[in-house]
Parts: sequence; C-alpha cells; structure tokens
Amino acid sequence: MKAFIFDLDGVIVFTDKFHYQAWKKMADAMGIYFDEVINNRLRGVSRAESLEIILERYDGEPLSDEKKAELMEEKNNTYRKLLATMTPADVTDEVRDTLKKLHEQRYKLAIGSSSRNAKFILEKVGLLDAFDAISDGNNITHSKPDPEVFTKAGEFLGVKPKECVVVEDAYAGIDAAKAAGMTAVGIGDAAGYAKADYQIESFRELLAIQG
Ligand code: G6P
Ligand code: MG
Repeated sequence: MKAFIFDLDGVIVFTDKFHYQAWKKMADAMGIYFDEVINNRLRGVSRAESLEIILERYDGEPLSDEKKAELMEEKNNTYRKLLATMTPADVTDEVRDTLKKLHEQRYKLAIGSSSRNAKFILEKVGLLDAFDAISDGNNITHSKPDPEVFTKAGEFLGVKPKECVVVEDAYAGIDAAKAAGMTAVGIGDAAGYAKADYQIESFRELLAIQG
C-alpha cells in the first residue's frame, strides 16, 4: 500500500450536527418534517441529492431548479456560519497523531470528500497541510457511490488504485472505494458494513492494517 484516502465528514471531523442544524432550519421554514434519522441518510450524499431526500416529505407544488438552487445556497450559508466556529480542537489527538505517523512512514495522504466545503473545514481545523492532495465536491461530476472522487484522489497522488486504502464512514463511500478498485476501511457508521475489507472502531487501528 502506498496511500490512504480519507473521507472528511464522519472520519476526520464531525460536521453531521452542523449539516443537521442547517437543513433543519430550511425544512422548518418550509414546513417539512425532518429529523436526525433522515439526516443519517445524507451521509456521503451530495448537497443536491440531500435536498431531494428532504423534499420527499414536501407536499407543495413541484419546485423549479432555480428555487432548489436558492434553497441549497441558503442551507450552505447557514452551514458555513456553523463551520466557521470550528477550531483545531475539533480534531482529536488520535486523528492528528495517526495522520502524522502515517506521513512519517511515507504514505501519501489524501482527502476524498463529496463536500464543496472540504478545504474550508480543513483550514478551520488546521489540517490543510496534512494532506498531499484534496479531491472534493469541486472536482467531481458524480458523487459516491460513484468511484470518481477516489479515482481522482489516486490520480492527484500518482498512486494506482490497488495501492490505495480508503477510510470511510458511509456505506455509499465503501461502495465507491470498492468500485474504484481500492481497499476499503469502514469506521463509525460503516464499521459494521460487510463490504468493507477492514472494519475498525478507532482511527489508530489504521496503523495496524497498513500493508
Ligand atoms: C459529505 C457529507 C454529506 C454532504 C456532502 C456535501 O459527503 O457527508 O452529508 O451532503 O459532503 O457537502 P457540502 O459541504 O458540499 O454541502
Ligand atoms: Mg462521511
């Protein structure tokens, strides 16, 4: 193995609560029922697909593309205000130390995230320099479970798919990693997903599975 590609939300940082608060504000304003169970379905899913999932419970007139774009912008503005409160303390010592050790062992490290806010988040938590490449929602046309975000991360690093290990908390992300021909590690929500090649409970276990 030559590289580790990390999903961001739910692996390096925990922004679920901010996504939830921002979507909830929008849903409440429109009278749409939205709760944390529905929020779990948005993990790893793009912003536009997230909106469609929330709109499953909307019984008004069909919305135009312009209106949907407006809603996504409004949600993103709320979300970014919440992200702006993040600091380096929002990354655990375990995550920081493990990344450092992997880097010292000469593994290449990348981010593979569907988020268009990935760089902003990494900057707020002081991890922008910890990665050799960032593949995110800005350089893809298909989101997970499509392999594009990971395939691009491997290309940015100059490492072949079979030499890449993907670390993911979403089922869609594990499917994407396998479709990219990479080794998949499930953590958090995806720790129990049978399609993952490795299932880990804590981030430092990555140090034991390098091959
Ligand atoms: C990540 C999160 C999703 C989110 C997506 C897009 O994959 O897990 O919940 O919808 O990024 O995020 P963005 O910051 O671009 O709205
Ligand atoms: Mg995730």
